[in-house]
Amino acid sequence: MAAAAPHRLRHWWRRRGGEGGVFVAFGLGILLLVFFFALVSRIRGSINDGGTVALLGHAGDELVPLRVLRNAGKKGAVCLDGSAPGYHIETGFGTGLDSWVIHLEGGGWCNSVDSCSSRKMTLYGSSTLMDRLVPFRGILSRNQSQNPDFYNWNRVKVRYCDGGSFSGNVEGEVHNGTKLFFRGQRIWEAIMDDLMATGLATARQALLTGCSAGGLATFIHCDDFRARLSGDVIVKCLADAGFFLDAKDISGTSTMRSFYHDVVQRHGIGKNLPKDCTRKKEPSQACLQSPHKLNAIPPCFFPQEIIKSVTTPLFVLNPAYDFWQIQHILAPAGSDPNGLWSNCKKDIVNCDPNQMETLQEFRRAMINALEGFRQKKDGGLFLGSCYVHCQTLSDVTWHSFTSPRIGNKTIGRAVGDWYFGRGVVEAVDCPFPCNPTCYNMKFV
Ligand SMILES: *[C@@H]1O[C@H](CO)[C@@H](O)[C@H](O)[C@H]1NC(C)=O
Ligand SMILES: *[C@@H]1O[C@H](CO)[C@@H](O)[C@H](O)[C@H]1NC(C)=O
Ligand SMILES: *[C@@H]1O[C@H](CO)[C@@H](O)[C@H](O)[C@H]1NC(C)=O
Repeated sequence: MAAAAPHRLRHWWRRRGGEGGVFVAFGLGILLLVFFFALVSRIRGSINDGGTVALLGHAGDELVPLRVLRNAGKKGAVCLDGSAPGYHIETGFGTGLDSWVIHLEGGGWCNSVDSCSSRKMTLYGSSTLMDRLVPFRGILSRNQSQNPDFYNWNRVKVRYCDGGSFSGNVEGEVHNGTKLFFRGQRIWEAIMDDLMATGLATARQALLTGCSAGGLATFIHCDDFRARLSGDVIVKCLADAGFFLDAKDISGTSTMRSFYHDVVQRHGIGKNLPKDCTRKKEPSQACLQSPHKLNAIPPCFFPQEIIKSVTTPLFVLNPAYDFWQIQHILAPAGSDPNGLWSNCKKDIVNCDPNQMETLQEFRRAMINALEGFRQKKDGGLFLGSCYVHCQTLSDVTWHSFTSPRIGNKTIGRAVGDWYFGRGVVEAVDCPFPCNPTCYNMKFV
C-alpha cells in the first residue's frame, strides 16, 4: 500500500500539470532557494506561497488583486525595503457576509543585515515586487465543493514582506550602513486596523490562519486577534505548517534554535512574544543570550512554548514529517557535509532504514511537544504522516479526492468540524508509510 501513494501522485502530476513549493531556505548562508517551483512557474506563470503546495493554472481560477496600504507608511509599517505592505481580499456573500478568514502568507525568515538585504530585493521584502493578482485556493477558494465551510466568507490573504513572521519592531532605517526596515509587528497592526475598518469590526465569526512563517505568526498573534473583536464573536486560529520544532539536527547541533535566536535579535521580536512565556523564561534575555545558554532555555519563538499561553481556540495542522523541517531543522546542509541525506530529503521513499528511524524519532518528538496542547478541550489537531509542508492553500491537499485523510476525513473537513463544533478533532496519523491517501512532495 505504501508505494501506492507516490505512484498515484506522479500520475496526478502529469494529469493536472504539476504543483510548486517554494522554500525560503535560511541555512546559514541564507538564500532564496527556489526548487522545482521555478521550473513550474516558467511553464505556468507564477504564484508564490512561501512553501505552499499549490496547483497552478486551474481553469476558472479567480485572481484577486493586491491592495497596497499606502497610508501604513505613516505609522512606519513598511516592508524590509520601506515599501507599503498589502493584502488581497475577496468579499463574502450569502450567509458568509459577517464571517472572515484571514490568511498570513509564509516564506521563511531573514536573520541578518546581509540576508535581509538580499530579501528586500524579492517579493518577500518589497510590495513593489509582489504579484498583483493571486489565485485564491484551498481555504481561500470561493468554490463550495472545494471549500465547503469557508467558501462564502470574506477571505483575505496578507502578504509577507518583513522577514520576521509579522513580529519585529526596530526603530530606525539604517542598519550597518544599509537601509532596512524591521517592522513586522507594525505591519500586523496596520493590516488589522485596515481590515477592521473594512468590515472585520462587525464580524460574527473569524478565523486567523497562515502557513509556514505565517503559521508561526498565527501562533504569535492569535490572542491579539481575539482581543480585537468583541467577546460574542467566535474567534479561532489555525496554524498550518507553523509548528517548527525545537529539535537538534542530525549532528547534534541546535541549528534552528540559533537561527531563531538571530531572527529574534535582528528583528527585535522578543518584546512582542507572549508575555507569559517571556516572563517565565525571560526570553528577551533567553532569546538574546549566547548560544550555549540558549541550549538550556527554549526561546519563546518556538510554537511549543507559545501555545502554552494561547487561550484562544487553536488548531494545529502539521505533517509530522514536514519537509521544510526535515530539510532545515533535522538535516540542514551544515549537519550533513557528505550529502548522505540529500536523496532522502528529495523524496521520503529514498530514505534508508536508519534515516527512516531518525524521521520516526522526529515524529515522536513532535507528538511529545504537543502533549500539553492536547489536554486543551477547545483545540484541534491534524498531525499527518505525509512528506508535505503547507496544506491549506491548495485544493489538492485541503479538500478534494487527492487530500490526505485521517479517519477518512480531509483536512478541510477536519478544520470545519472543529471550527463549528461538529465534533472533536484530534487526528494523529499512524507513522509513515501507513497512510495510502498521503500526498508526498518530491524534489527534482
Ligand atoms: C468547483 O470545483 C469543482 C471540483 O473541483 C469543479 O468541478 C467545478 O467546476 C468548480 N466550479 C467552478 C465554478 O469553478
Ligand atoms: C555591523 O557590522 C559589524 C562589523 O561587520 C558587526 O560586528 C555587527 O555585528 C554588525 N551589526 C549588525 C546590527 O548587524
Ligand atoms: C470515505 O468518505 C467518502 C466521502 O468523503 C465516502 O464516499 C466513503 O465511503 C468513505 N469511506 C469509508 C471507508 O468510510
